[in-house]
Amino acid sequence: MTSHPVPLPTPLPGSAPTLRVLFSPDEYEAIDAGALAGVTCVVFDVLRATSTMLEALANGATGIRPAREIAEALALKVNHPGALLAGERDGLRIRADRTGGVDFDLGNSPREFTRERVAGREIIMTTTNGTRALEACRGAKAVHIASFGNLSALAGHLASRTGADASGPLWLVCAGTLENASFEDALGAGALVDRLVTRQDGMRAWSLDDSAQIAREVYRAHRHRLVEAAALARNGRRLLAQPELAGDVPVCLEEDRNPRVVRRDADGVLRPVA
Ligand code: MLT
Repeated sequence: MTSHPVPLPTPLPGSAPTLRVLFSPDEYEAIDAGALAGVTCVVFDVLRATSTMLEALANGATGIRPAREIAEALALKVNHPGALLAGERDGLRIRADRTGGVDFDLGNSPREFTRERVAGREIIMTTTNGTRALEACRGAKAVHIASFGNLSALAGHLASRTGADASGPLWLVCAGTLENASFEDALGAGALVDRLVTRQDGMRAWSLDDSAQIAREVYRAHRHRLVEAAALARNGRRLLAQPELAGDVPVCLEEDRNPRVVRRDADGVLRPVA
């Protein structure tokens, strides 16, 4: 008989905070904003929105101002004229034909967000699912963004349980692809669960919902072949099939490429935690 490769959590005495994964837009859009008041949310859009946001902030962008819709992004630009407009629809940079005449400055490829383009600039960003998931978390007491690039830094921060993250449930919100769950976001959420529970006290510190167990098992099955695993994902296959976008996939899956904790401030802007 073979032994199970994953150490299983021991039953918890008392009440450790719940660690839960929401896999699809159906789940996160059904959340009542009031139910989030005591919850810390971590939003994953591995391919590519949260990876791209992390890249922009690593290259000196001062903050990311997320917008759910294109019209909302354009309205924010009126009040923040120095900001860059970024984002995608159908994976491609938003062009004048969708906005009534305004070409966005940047799309949603992390490789576009170079220091030359973004240092010292705020970025207004709207993407199909990434900023949609962020919007769904608006009622949470704390919101972070995550991708493979900042997993270890974020796990360290969340395990230390300081500030607004000091108590309460932790929900990992997978942005998904269109109306569906996405394999790459489940991998990313599972990787964060894995890092949290394999820390010295992790098994006792968190009460894993079945959803967190599922995500962790998926990650552990694929952790040594993440780029190959991306080909199992609908959005991964779409990106890999386009020569100009295929190079985004390994960038988005590079572990600890941008090791910083990013949280939503009171003004709704995503900024690195000092
Ligand atoms: C999204 O927000 O839906 C994604 O980031 C799509 C993409 O790969 O551009």
